[in-house]
Amino acid sequence: MVTFTENPLRVGLQQERSPEPLILVIFGASGDLTQRKLVPSLYQLKRQRRLPSEITIVGVARREWSHDYFREQMREGIEEFSDGIHSEELWNDFAEGLFYCPGNIDKPDSYQKLKAFLAELDGKRGTRGNRVFYLAVAPKFFPEAIRQLGTADMLDDPIKHRLVIEKPFGRDLSSAQILNRVVQQVCREEQVYRIDHYLGKETVQNLLVFRFANAIFEPLWNRQFVDHVQITVAETVGVEDRAGYYETSGALRDMVQNHLMQLFCLTAMEPPNSLDADSIRTEKVKVVQATHLADINNLECSAVRGQYKAGWMKGEAVSGYREEEGVDPNSITPTYVAMKLMIDNWRWQGVPFYLRTGKRLPKKVSEISIQFRDVPLLIFQSAAQQTSPNVLTMRIQPNEGISLRFEAKMPGPQLRTRTVDMDFSYGSSFGMATSDAYNRLLLDCMLGDQTLFTRADEVEEAWRVITPALSAWEAPTDPGTIPQYEAGTWEPREAEHLINRDGRRWRRP
Ligand code: BG6
Repeated sequence: MVTFTENPLRVGLQQERSPEPLILVIFGASGDLTQRKLVPSLYQLKRQRRLPSEITIVGVARREWSHDYFREQMREGIEEFSDGIHSEELWNDFAEGLFYCPGNIDKPDSYQKLKAFLAELDGKRGTRGNRVFYLAVAPKFFPEAIRQLGTADMLDDPIKHRLVIEKPFGRDLSSAQILNRVVQQVCREEQVYRIDHYLGKETVQNLLVFRFANAIFEPLWNRQFVDHVQITVAETVGVEDRAGYYETSGALRDMVQNHLMQLFCLTAMEPPNSLDADSIRTEKVKVVQATHLADINNLECSAVRGQYKAGWMKGEAVSGYREEEGVDPNSITPTYVAMKLMIDNWRWQGVPFYLRTGKRLPKKVSEISIQFRDVPLLIFQSAAQQTSPNVLTMRIQPNEGISLRFEAKMPGPQLRTRTVDMDFSYGSSFGMATSDAYNRLLLDCMLGDQTLFTRADEVEEAWRVITPALSAWEAPTDPGTIPQYEAGTWEPREAEHLINRDGRRWRRP
């Protein structure tokens, strides 16, 4: 176990600062995300005294709610989805800054009304014209909302006005390019915050610290020492009540293009010149630009899709994807994707990166595992002396931490070896829980720090990498040809072949 000694790594992505007074306007305020994540996170930030006293939140949605009804809904969200209200005094103070303004995304009048209301609030709450517009609406409304905000001159100040866009950013390369153009017509890139909540996870940020604040790993982090890399984001949940969205998205769009590509970039990127947002984001873009599916002419050697069928999760029978409510019984939407990526650059030439993600897998686990090469000469030859290659695993969730697997001699007169783990765990070393990703992301965007948000070129490059699979899998096909895996098992056989064919195996985290 690694214990925390002195000088905690002070390499934060930025110094602790407090945002300027501002109004955060949430479009889609009557939706799930606002009640479950955004407002509970803002309340936690308030409790942690990270927000200025003037902070003002305005919910916008179609329903005709009153300010008080909105406050009640948000209170319920905090009580149900986070660790509660704690102090009535604190809640009252927070609630005084909560407002609701009914409006329609496509009605210019609604923006004029909102604009006047925000100006009025500036006077009352001292928010000085600073605005963050958060689009927590269905993605099909993004372009309209952005255009209307532009027409109403609500994004015209590059310093005071910011725009936050939830995922998914587009549904393929061309729609992402179109959306980027809509954004660029009304504001500058410095005003735009594209959310990928994986970047808000403490352990994902720790990847940067681990790689660039330690000298000993960098010399090993390349084709000379690394055999291959496996990135796994496994979930136990099925499609839940999101069939409407998921049927049009599937694992490739829902998880690979964004969350897995982010983990991939941070693992493979070159060291940035500095910790500023653009240095980091430029290195991320460079590595994705050099990335492609292993064999574009032979998709099954580079990418495999799958769909869960009925099975067992923790002793309970669960239905297959096609039997879930709202799912087409002939659906070809993938709930599982595995792919093999290659990077054409000096550091990684010839090193495969295997990525996989799926729903209804046996365990909820996200990890990155760097598998090192075998020793050059095996001097231990008997079965009892067999060795396995070293593996460095970064656990994103749960049990966040890092472990290094190596060989050790078993005690006793005989020479027998065994694989052991050296383990660092966030929980035991720092004695505190990691905070919710949205806390960090909301705070950063209020502070004007874009490091943990995806840039326009980055999002487009990520779409480009997966385009061959996306296009091939979009084509109508006999549903019987979609590889199936039983709920509660690791992957379809075809995904095993993807890696076994290279003489390697998937990890069983
Ligand atoms: C979301 C996806 O972006 O990420 C969900 O839409 C998925 O389908 C979720 O379940 C996973 O996030 P986390 O933080 O639970 O790993």
